[in-house]
Amino acid sequence: MSLSGHAKLAGVMGWPISHSLSPRLHGYWLREHEIDGAYVPLPVAPNNLEHALRALPSLGFSGVNLTVPHKESALPIMDTVTDIARRIGAVNTVFVTDDGKLTGTNTDASGFMENLRLNALAWLPTDGAAVVLGAGGAARAVVAALIDANVPEIRLLNRTFEKAVSLAESLEGPTKVIDWADRDEALSDAVLLVNTTILGMVNQPPLEISLKLLSKTAIVNDLVYAPLETELLFEARRLGRQTVDGLGMLLHQAVPGFEGWFGVRPDVSAELRQSVLTSA
Ligand code: ATR
Repeated sequence: MSLSGHAKLAGVMGWPISHSLSPRLHGYWLREHEIDGAYVPLPVAPNNLEHALRALPSLGFSGVNLTVPHKESALPIMDTVTDIARRIGAVNTVFVTDDGKLTGTNTDASGFMENLRLNALAWLPTDGAAVVLGAGGAARAVVAALIDANVPEIRLLNRTFEKAVSLAESLEGPTKVIDWADRDEALSDAVLLVNTTILGMVNQPPLEISLKLLSKTAIVNDLVYAPLETELLFEARRLGRQTVDGLGMLLHQAVPGFEGWFGVRPDVSAELRQSVLTSA
């Protein structure tokens, strides 16, 4: 649809930004709801981040998403930071308030949990131990979400052991750090496995792990979505475990931003998935 002079504006800041799926995703919802608004890719170099964020109120933006490499460095620039963003240590969604201030939040934890709630129907967070592979930004969001959902035990494994230790210490919860070399055994009787590493992504090494000891009813969730069915998910399916792919979290984390900027809570539909996939 064409834009009027009243169009609401949002976008995504990253460096580089051309690979981002967010403009396609929000563009789909803007068309679906015939909203007088736009969501644009904003290439912002790291040394321009503060300047660019501070300019949002004067430019009339309702807010932005932040992606690599800005999520952590945006935190001290915000006027207000939500508890969840502070705990995760990263901001992925910014709202401009009516008085021109910047509020930073993080929707990755809720996006992760909403995706599991809708696609892992047989799983309840309190069912048993969860295993999380990785200790980067995505892992912080996943571990925070699992703690908040009262998962009784979180086994955290990362190639760099110390990073897992510091993640576990900063997000207080029932987290046990286990050596990366012991990952096959760490799956013993676990009811959820989440891969937050880049292993299994296109152009990255495979994730080498045996799923034999996982509980028979376990859910396997790979945050990697390129390819959509990773080797991990293929193997899990072959062994009769239920799988959840990584695209869902990407779509669900976008919902609160869109709702805040454009005033409509959008649906994560099969058509949206298809539209984003064909553009990927
Ligand atoms: P994100 O913010 O998306 O989580 P990240 O912070 O770069 O991305 O984290 C990438 C994760 O993949 C890390 O847990 C990283 O392990 P290290 O902390 O040891 O770097 C993990 N990773 C990357 N390459 C890996 C490899 N070849 N083997 C095992 N883990 C790997």
